[in-house]
This record gives sequence, structure tokens and C-alpha cells, in this order.
Amino acid sequence: MIKISPSLLAADISRLGESVKKIEKYIDMLHIDVMDGHFVPNISYGIPVVDGMRKATRLELDVHLMIEHPLLYIEKFSKAGADIITVHIESPDDCAKCVSLIKSLGKKAGVALNPDTPPERISHLISDIDMVLQMTVFPGFGGQNMDRRAIDNIKIIRGMIGNDKDLQVDGGIYAENCGEVVKCGANVIVSGTGIFGSKNPVAAVKELKKQALAAYREGILI
Ligand code: DX5
Ligand code: ZN
Repeated sequence: MIKISPSLLAADISRLGESVKKIEKYIDMLHIDVMDGHFVPNISYGIPVVDGMRKATRLELDVHLMIEHPLLYIEKFSKAGADIITVHIESPDDCAKCVSLIKSLGKKAGVALNPDTPPERISHLISDIDMVLQMTVFPGFGGQNMDRRAIDNIKIIRGMIGNDKDLQVDGGIYAENCGEVVKCGANVIVSGTGIFGSKNPVAAVKELKKQALAAYREGILI
């Protein structure tokens, strides 16, 4: 099933709730990028924004932790209202511990990997997670171009996880290229600049979904 998860990073920080309300009925979840200035060279926002968005919408909150020590904060993000918590395999914390903590809190667990990380690095976690996040850019900033190294990984990961788990792609995704990543096996599409950065976010979401669904119906190329 295709799901669209717009990245709040590209939304007007002074009007986050309002920006989400405008597209709420056309999207499936909301992607919240948390950056700590250590794991990635940028700082975004944290627990209070998840808490605020929990009050602003009933959408599934998809929280992407780009932080050095996710283990210390998972419980706090869970309490703030995150529904899906994704941690990076490249973080120094033990991802298996993070996943089991997320699951013990009754939340969905995701594991993210950068475009140059070998997919085998997450193989021991697959049976316990709900979603893999294949980064299609190096994390830290919105508005980058898709890194084509991720394309082969998408195909490999879909082969590894089977058809029932979600495979999310994040970074540099627009209506024009989402068909390609869907055909490779992605089914959860994150887009920030392509949606909130567009003049007409409703039209942008509709077009993204249309292209993703068309590619999905054509089938996976693996
Ligand atoms: C990058 C973030 C992404 C990013 C997506 O570190 O994880 O979610 O903001 O934004 P666009 O669609 O602008 O590449
Ligand atoms: Zn993200």
C-alpha cells in the first residue's frame, strides 16, 4: 500500500499546525525530522514539536530520529505521541535495544540507513521492525537531490523484507521521480520540499500520490 508522509522540515515553522491541516485529508502520516547537531550537522526540533503535532492532528506521527543517542530519548518521544519511531543503524547506540524499547512501548519501530550503508547491516533487525527507512540523501538537510546509490539498496531491501513490511524513502523525492523508487520497492514516500515547499501543497500531494500509485500498479521491478 502506498503511503505519503510529508516531511514537516520544509513547512513554515511559524505555522506548522496550519500547514498540516491544509493537506491532512490527502496524506497518510506526518514525517517529523529530529536532528541534534551531532549525528547530523544540523539542528531541527525535538520532543515539544512532536507533542504539539500530536495535539494538532490525528495523523500517524512518523518520527525520524537523526540523533546520536536515540536510546536516551525514545521513551520521551513515545510519551509525546510518536506512533512510529525510526533510529539510524549508523548511530553508536545498539539498534536492537532501541527496537525492543520502541516495541515495548507499543509503538512501530523503524530502522534507517544512509545511501552508502550496506543493507546487510540491518538484516538482524528485520524480523522485529515494522519499517525500513532507506535514505535517498545523506541526512541533515531538506532540499537535496536524490542520491542514486540508494536505488539499488531499495531493491535489495524489498527483497530482504518481503511484501508485508513498509519500505520508506526520504530525501529528494518529488512527483517526477517517485515512480522510479516505487517500482524499485518503496511504498512509503517522504517528501518535504516537494510538498510543503510547493506553492500549492494540496496539488503537490495529489500529484505525488497519483504518480506513486501508477508506478505501484505497474509492479515492482525486482
Ligand atoms: C533529511 C530529512 C528528510 C528531508 C526530506 O535529513 O530526513 O526528511 O527533510 O526533505 P526533502 O524532500 O526536501 O528532501
Ligand atoms: Zn526524514
